Amino acid sequence: MLSDKLEAALNEQMNWEIYSAHIYLSMSSHFAQEGLGGFSKWMFAQYQEEMFHALKFFDYINEAGGHARLGQIDAPQASWETPLAAFEEALEHEKGVTARINKIADLAMDERNHAVGIFLQWFISEQVEEEDSVGDIVGKLKMLGDGGGLFMLDRDLGVRVFTAPAE
Ligand code: FEO
Repeated sequence: MLSDKLEAALNEQMNWEIYSAHIYLSMSSHFAQEGLGGFSKWMFAQYQEEMFHALKFFDYINEAGGHARLGQIDAPQASWETPLAAFEEALEHEKGVTARINKIADLAMDERNHAVGIFLQWFISEQVEEEDSVGDIVGKLKMLGDGGGLFMLDRDLGVRVFTAPAE
């Protein structure tokens, strides 16, 4: 069972995950326009991952006796000055997601709703990986500058394929 407050918080996060997906899909499009196919592919996989997150909330809310409600999603930015600017924004965004997930976990704890706490554990671990992988790319971009290394990194990022994580 979900209290009204927890149900609202989970719904807000589901919609925030969809918003995250839109940001990364927009970055994927931007990189495609810039001729950076590997960056574009990496961001497309990130978009798929965010939709996977959103659907995890969707399923859980409905299974727990709530009602997953889709809300309005703001339009994301369409272009970025440099790849570094895009990835720095992605890193800040992920830090924000972590803070939001932690806040819902605090609420679940306050309400002694252990089932929601267990559900959120997966996301708490996932956010450590998300911040790490994006932070790693920010670090590489800072080392590279805009020179020929960008071509090599583009090739490396192009290897990423989305595979749904184990539940
Ligand atoms: Fe769904 Fe990137 O957090």
